[in-house]
Amino acid sequence: MSPISRIHHPALRQKIMSAEAAAALIPAGAHVGMSGFTGAGYPKAVPAALARRIERLNAAGENFRIGLWTGASTAPELDGALAKVHGIDMRLPYQSDPTCRAQINSGQMQYIDIHLSHVAQFVWFGFLGHLDVAVVEVAGILPDGRLIPSSSVGNNKTWLEQADQVILEVNRWQNPGLEGMHDIYYGTERPPHRQPIPLVRPNDRIGEPYLHCDPAKVIAVVETQLPDRNSSFAAPDALSRRIAGHIIEFLQQEVSRDRLPKELLPLQSGVGNMANAVLAGLNEGPFDGMTAYTEVLQDGMLELLSSGKLLSASATAISLSPAAMDDFNARIDFYRERIVLRPQEISNHPELIRRLGLIAMNAMIEADIYGNVNSTHVMGSSIMNGIGGSGDFARNAYLSIFMTPSTAKDGAISCIVPMASHVDHTEHDVQVIVTEQGLADLRGLSPTQRARVVIEKCAHPDYRPALLDYFERALREAPGKHTPHLLGEALSWHTRYLQTGHM
Ligand code: COA
Repeated sequence: MSPISRIHHPALRQKIMSAEAAAALIPAGAHVGMSGFTGAGYPKAVPAALARRIERLNAAGENFRIGLWTGASTAPELDGALAKVHGIDMRLPYQSDPTCRAQINSGQMQYIDIHLSHVAQFVWFGFLGHLDVAVVEVAGILPDGRLIPSSSVGNNKTWLEQADQVILEVNRWQNPGLEGMHDIYYGTERPPHRQPIPLVRPNDRIGEPYLHCDPAKVIAVVETQLPDRNSSFAAPDALSRRIAGHIIEFLQQEVSRDRLPKELLPLQSGVGNMANAVLAGLNEGPFDGMTAYTEVLQDGMLELLSSGKLLSASATAISLSPAAMDDFNARIDFYRERIVLRPQEISNHPELIRRLGLIAMNAMIEADIYGNVNSTHVMGSSIMNGIGGSGDFARNAYLSIFMTPSTAKDGAISCIVPMASHVDHTEHDVQVIVTEQGLADLRGLSPTQRARVVIEKCAHPDYRPALLDYFERALREAPGKHTPHLLGEALSWHTRYLQTGHM
């Protein structure tokens, strides 16, 4: 044990070994549950060692592949390394790695896109098969064997409970001040024995700060000192500022109409640059005393906590830029009082989202004129990342907002289309659509009323006349006038893009 080791359990200290030795214990064909959520808290040494082993064995003629389950997206050292050696047979539930994406879209890797709140319970129900090995990063091991979680919780509780064998990566890079920030709830049962989850305010603590794991199941402990992915966010540009402006104006109207309290309701903010820009807008906006019940804490949430506009934030992972991570580490005592990190089955729990009354704000790829939203597929057949938690939040939120620039690829693509080429969120789960052009409030509108508002408020002027023309002709010619479509033409915009590079 090194002098600064964080492994204080005597029997687990005996299991310290190299990443190579630990990776050698993972059998071909295993279902492996790894920690990691949006580039935070993923194992960093064992997956890379496993990738090297797979490369060697496959070069010698074996066909060594694993099923890889995580919390959500990880990083090049995990998804990227294993995909590059063609070591992943089946991936779930959310990924954003370019190599994985290319292999999924070329049919070389199977991928199951699952609502993030469903993953843990699907494993408990046995829907996904048996979990063989868990590889989980932690920030330390206490003398009694309890584990200090690291920068994400994700599905780690379930992986540690369900896997036959466990490999722990103990990462000294993670701030020891994370201890006490987590809230691991052990009260979930399988139906018909489920009880209400006793969480009534977004920052309630209903569990304990540590993860449990039977030491007898631990087959290896690997010490690391390696950083999380910590990608930078693009500075908010004029376009995302306009989207943020529309959302803030809308929220102000809702307050003035007594449909929202002046401190708003708990915020959920999706992943990516645009979501981050909206949070930056809220930091300059008129609301105080806000709370967040979300999935990932990005830079924008940290800035809101820092300014005092946000009182508390609940999430399952911290995904920060290097600069924000420096601030987080320097002031971890301040943040520990305001941040709670939970298992994703609790951060994304539909019943809690409904009861707390969230304002859900997620980015999308495209929406159609009737309000169906595609968050996952490009041109109907290629996966981008996955549905993530957007469905957990959108269907159950008090207010469900989806946003996108009105065009993509320098205007070659309209993000408002006659018919979505893939639907993740149906018209029933989408209340507000926002682009830089404006905001369409779809509540209380029929499909044909929605179409006029979406085209008028959200479509780019270059595409607005063609959308209106499609809608008017559909209204005249479609056999049904409820959701009028010209079926031979509804996806012609996508076909045209694939054929000509322009919609
Ligand atoms: N058709 C084709 N491509 C499109 C497109 C469209 N209508 N709209 C966007 N794109 C492309 C962009 O051009 C960009 O491509 P590039 O990487 O080659 O530059 C890419 O999609 C990402 O778009 P960007 O504008 O940078 O948006 P983003 O980073 O905000 O990501 C999503 C948008 C939808 C991909 C992302 O939010 C996501 O994965 N969402 C699903 C999961 C989710 O909502 N999770 C949050 C729940 S907590």
